[in-house]
Amino acid sequence: MKSTYHLPVPEHVAIIMDGNGRWASAQGLPRTEGHREGAKAVRRAIEGCCRLGVKTLTLYAFSADNWKRPRAEVSALMLLFRHYLLTEVEECRKEGIRISVIGRRDRLPGTLLPLIDEAERETRGGTRLHLRLAVDYSARDAIFTAARRVSSAEELSKELGPDVDLLVRTAGEQRLSDFLLWECAYAEMVFLQQCWPDFDEDSLADAVAQYRGRVRNFGAVPVTAAVG
Ligand code: FPP
Repeated sequence: MKSTYHLPVPEHVAIIMDGNGRWASAQGLPRTEGHREGAKAVRRAIEGCCRLGVKTLTLYAFSADNWKRPRAEVSALMLLFRHYLLTEVEECRKEGIRISVIGRRDRLPGTLLPLIDEAERETRGGTRLHLRLAVDYSARDAIFTAARRVSSAEELSKELGPDVDLLVRTAGEQRLSDFLLWECAYAEMVFLQQCWPDFDEDSLADAVAQYRGRVRNFGAVPVTAAVG
């Protein structure tokens, strides 16, 4: 049977994890419970990427604009990141998952900084999957900051990181929200209705299957149409 897949598995998947609050409200729970369930979905996304052979996974964990949220919710999220780094790093190291944190560091709680350094140091040899957590992240800020250190578009791309092949956003929203604006120049986008805490390996497999059925020409014409 002829395959309908045109593309290989995406090398770089980026996910905007949306809908934690709505998921919690629908269950009559506080928003922070949605974030806690969301952290479990992070593990499922990582496992799915490892199984499928995705090489880089970038997760939007906390945007520079998320500081505008109620102080209690921000604190709960910071505690959750702390807990995540305390409990998951060893497992990631064993599984060959390299962790990086992208975004500003100067506004993060001081207790988080040594844990981030340790996570990056302990896992730097990992080659199976590069997990990049975007925390206090703004793409505009990242581009503006990196642009001052380079003198060409190619250098800027190198400075920021790999182009995104597949961008997934959950909870029915269809925006980039200041996430990887440069790196998403040619990203294929998949928008899912489900809230992030319901995301599982099947959700990832479906998104990857949608991606693989797409045609990417990067502004050129398909090889079969290139003559005449
Ligand atoms: C967006 O949903 C989600 C966030 C701002 C936080 C994402 C954080 C996690 C998934 C928790 C754990 C992450 C790690 C890396 C351990 P929302 O709160 O905006 O949902 P809503 O739009 O329904 O209100």
